[in-house]
Amino acid sequence: MNLVEKTEKTFALTTPLYYVNDLPHIGSAYTTMAADVVVRFQRLQGRPALLITGTDEHGQKIQRTAESKGQKPQEFADEISTAFVSLWELLNIQYNRFIRTSDPRHEAIVKEFFYKVWDKGDIYLGQQKGWYCVSCEEFKEERDLLDGHRCPIHTNKEVEWRDEENYFFRLSNYQNQLEAFYQSQPDFIQPESRRNEVLKFVSQGLQDFSISRVNLELGFPIPVNPKHTFYVWFDALLGYVTALLEPDAEPTLENALGKWWPINLHLIGKDILRFHAVYWPAMLMSASLPVPQHVFGHGFLTKDGTKMGKTLGNTLDPIALIDRYGADAVRYYFLKEIEFGKDGDFNEVRFINVVNADLANDLGNLLNRNLNMVKKYCAGDVPSIVSEDITVNNPLKAIGLPLGEKVKEAYEALSFSQGCEAVLSLVRASNKYIDDQAPWSLYKQGQQQSVEEVLYAVLESVRLAAYLLSPIIPNISSDIYQQLGFGIDFNDQKQLSVLAPFKTHAKWGLLTNKQTLGTPRPIFQRIEPLRQL
Ligand code: MSP
Repeated sequence: MNLVEKTEKTFALTTPLYYVNDLPHIGSAYTTMAADVVVRFQRLQGRPALLITGTDEHGQKIQRTAESKGQKPQEFADEISTAFVSLWELLNIQYNRFIRTSDPRHEAIVKEFFYKVWDKGDIYLGQQKGWYCVSCEEFKEERDLLDGHRCPIHTNKEVEWRDEENYFFRLSNYQNQLEAFYQSQPDFIQPESRRNEVLKFVSQGLQDFSISRVNLELGFPIPVNPKHTFYVWFDALLGYVTALLEPDAEPTLENALGKWWPINLHLIGKDILRFHAVYWPAMLMSASLPVPQHVFGHGFLTKDGTKMGKTLGNTLDPIALIDRYGADAVRYYFLKEIEFGKDGDFNEVRFINVVNADLANDLGNLLNRNLNMVKKYCAGDVPSIVSEDITVNNPLKAIGLPLGEKVKEAYEALSFSQGCEAVLSLVRASNKYIDDQAPWSLYKQGQQQSVEEVLYAVLESVRLAAYLLSPIIPNISSDIYQQLGFGIDFNDQKQLSVLAPFKTHAKWGLLTNKQTLGTPRPIFQRIEPLRQL
């Protein structure tokens, strides 16, 4: 299923807006790394793309956490929000907008949106009774709870009983419209298993949900009754809209929605699927606004089979990981090793094995070894061969020619691991090809033409691999490109689609002898294996 195809020219995608109840952990980084790969891939193809991320700064969870630390909620939110920004810098995330839901401009957008829904007659005052998980910021059905009234996601937290007056959104009014929408846009919810979950949930009958709270200070007041504040999710989802405002634009829906709306892709974790795939489109339908094109719910990063999370305290510190291994290795591991959409366990021994095998050995050594042979056997110049001189029976050309399209399809379907595997198959075939062809023997036998053909085919394969992996490992790819004599930095958004357009660079056979090769140097330092398990 092609997730990122759209007839319009622009492409907008979002990460969730992260709660500021604690420092970011690797789970929050996971969605953001994936989003960054998608946005970089769009840009590589010359498509204007906008990546929205940010922080969700309202609700009881944050209010309580700030109180427990003896801090004012806003001060606390400022600190944590800054930590997210710094982590995105360290991880080399090319986001365009960072929205904080405490932004006063956001209040204006929420208010305007509220009145649209209010005027439609979709909001009413009622009594909310039920079990609430503060960590999820969500009411739970009694039948879904674990023993001792514990939340199934935050298994160490008990849900709390609520019986209070709230404003409700008439979700039940949208049952038919939503069902018709899911039918007409079958790829709205991805992957398929998540779509089925949502369809099942909706078919059981939708109930109205409360959009206000009493006794909650941390939130915007409800315009028609300031004793109530907005339920955190009602305001948070609208953060995606506020984020679209140009910095100096007046905060109106019209200004926000002009250029990038509707969002092409919301990337989220599976725990917040209902909000994005049911509540959100219904809210937009009520306000007579177009709904987003796709919602993709990925799996959880787990530790010993349990979701890593701030509430459970079993997280992994992404900063320590980046400090130790570098941003590219971290990005590569999570995108390549875990099938996007499924859960995946983190294990440091495995991490080291994977990045050593793929980045240091298969890719890094291949380049290094080959550049040294070019120095020795071809006076340091790219062999003066053109792709047409090499027959299609050449194993590298045979894999290389269709690879660009194959990897494009994988990225577009958000199958990052498949994309990496496809590229690695070329890299591995290149290593085997060198061993089989033994250019050192060919050289000794005076078969210069064959030596040059082998070395050209391998250099070109490394180039293509670097290009196609550049959304995932931009620093390493830039380093490879520079050693191959291209003055191209894959982190430079402005020059990329002009200097290295997808339609030429994603094709095997681009390298020519006009390139002046750089000095060989390792692109990824092998990591010492851990001694303990
Ligand atoms: N504030 C809401 C989102 C509002 S969007 C308008 C929220 N925040 S969160 O910080 O709790 O979670 C943000 C995202 O991180 C979710 O998509 C969640 O699935 C993801 N992850 C949190 N822990 C995770 C793992 N252990 N593994 C993978 N992703 C996880 O929900």
